[in-house]
Amino acid sequence: MLDELKEKHIPILYNELQNLSDEDNAFFHPHLFDKKTLESLLKDNEKYYIFYYEGELIGYCFIRTFGKFEIPTLGCIIWGRYREKGYGEILMKELEEETKKLGFKSLMLKVYNKNKIGIKLYKKCGFKKISKEGIRIWMIKHL
Ligand SMILES: CC(C)(COP(=O)(O)OP(=O)(O)OC[C@H]1O[C@@H](n2cnc3c(N)ncnc32)[C@H](O)[C@@H]1OP(=O)(O)O)[C@@H](O)C(=O)NCCC(=O)NCCS
Repeated sequence: MLDELKEKHIPILYNELQNLSDEDNAFFHPHLFDKKTLESLLKDNEKYYIFYYEGELIGYCFIRTFGKFEIPTLGCIIWGRYREKGYGEILMKELEEETKKLGFKSLMLKVYNKNKIGIKLYKKCGFKKISKEGIRIWMIKHL
């Protein structure tokens, strides 16, 4: 289940984001992880979600248009201890449904070409590579 980010989630999200591995920090840096920045997300015009499954807080994700793009960009992370259990795929399906509900017809993402697990997940979920930007690749899925 995706729950839109609320004030009550900030302490726990902050805590999880402070404890990411070096590799996670290298692959996932959508915004700063300090408390002030997290608080500011509650007021901006993008969509941020906490991902729950059977009552447990499993990860964090978002879709953003940066106030101008027609196709939103997703970002996601599953907390380390919950990985390799299929949650990434569940999160992606829920994020796609949410994107459709918001009225968008496609979803994009940018992933480091060294992030083999991320790329594997996205390909499995039907995303296709469309272009390269330095050491990252852009992928898209028409919903
Ligand atoms: C990418 C990420 C979201 C995947 O989450 P997850 O819950 O482990 O994903 P799933 O369990 O649904 O697995 C998806 C696929 O990746 C594979 N996979 C996951 N972890 C793996 C690992 N350590 N080694 C090899 N394959 C792995 C799974 O086996 C599965 O493929 P399969 O069904 O063919 O077996 C997670 O690794 C993560 O949060 N990484 C750090 C943040 C990040 O890179 N986010 C993306 C930024 S663009």
